Amino acid sequence: MVGLLLLVLPVVLLVAAPRIRKMLSSGVCTSTVQLPGKVAIVTGANTGIGKETAKELAQRGARVYLACRDVPKGEVVAKEIQATTGNQQVLVRKLDLADTKSIRAFAKDFLAEERHLHILINNAGVMMCPYSKTADGFEMHIGVNHLGHFLLTHLLLEKLKDSAPARVVNVSSLAHHLGRIHFHDLHGETFYSAGLAYCHSKLANILFTQELARRLKGSGVTTYSVHPGTVQSELVRHSAAMRWMWWLFSPFIKTPQQGAQTSLHCALTEGLEALSGKHFSDCHVAWVSAQGRNETVARRLWDVSCDLLGLPMD
Ligand SMILES: *[C@@H]1O[C@H](CO)[C@@H](O)[C@H](O)[C@H]1NC(C)=O
Ligand SMILES: *[C@@H]1O[C@H](CO)[C@@H](O)[C@H](O)[C@H]1NC(C)=O
Repeated sequence: MVGLLLLVLPVVLLVAAPRIRKMLSSGVCTSTVQLPGKVAIVTGANTGIGKETAKELAQRGARVYLACRDVPKGEVVAKEIQATTGNQQVLVRKLDLADTKSIRAFAKDFLAEERHLHILINNAGVMMCPYSKTADGFEMHIGVNHLGHFLLTHLLLEKLKDSAPARVVNVSSLAHHLGRIHFHDLHGETFYSAGLAYCHSKLANILFTQELARRLKGSGVTTYSVHPGTVQSELVRHSAAMRWMWWLFSPFIKTPQQGAQTSLHCALTEGLEALSGKHFSDCHVAWVSAQGRNETVARRLWDVSCDLLGLPMD
């Protein structure tokens, strides 16, 4: 009896998988907005969700900058997007978020090159990498996922304001629920867990989105954080256990194209401005942990981040 069940169950699951996957990936960006004359940057655009997001923005006519650490890889993706969308304005620029020099160089060139920036998608991220530090001595997760994007957004902010209405979308995660901001040990020097370090950095994304939204009120620039869902991507490259889990549950995991939907929803959908600062999942406003709603922590993290990056605190 049990044997029969064990035999039948996988078959049933396999047959039902497409249906279940559809249920789990209910969020679809339904906006029909077109983007001729608009300029967008997507970080980490050479793979996964970032690539799908960039492709859709290009499809709608935007000039899209793929900000990538690996330029040759980015060039291959740019060619592919150009070929599938027919939009030749897909450009690759070098950006290593683990190095503030690279971030500053990217921003400097972009600001000199472009008159406008309408959409910034802070998508790149690292997950569960072994303990390591960025060029500037920041722990890798907080350094890339939070501080790197913080600096990038900061350097591009005037351009965004000048181009208003403009939007900034931050790809965060449901994992933020396990995150805490340990101000006394921001770089995990006393205690380090690769999994938790990821959660902390994703909480930081959410706090920043809220703080930025507060600071940008009235500027015409709005900002959203996003949980893309559980998505097949290279994010899990650092963890064998995670790769195995992903493989096991692969029929139920979103494709990168499905994973891009909530980012696209926040970047494109008309009338979303009143929800600036909010967190989205499956194209709907989603619940944020108590830590993720704490204004005191958000403000303090903002100041600490400015301090670490040598930015004025205003
Ligand atoms: C996005 O997250 C980064 C990193 O936490 C932060 O620096 C930036 O201000 C955030 N931007 C928005 C628009 O929320
Ligand atoms: C915010 O976080 C701080 C520090 O963790 C805590 O002391 C405070 O009670 C929190 N505030 C709210 C409203 O949760």
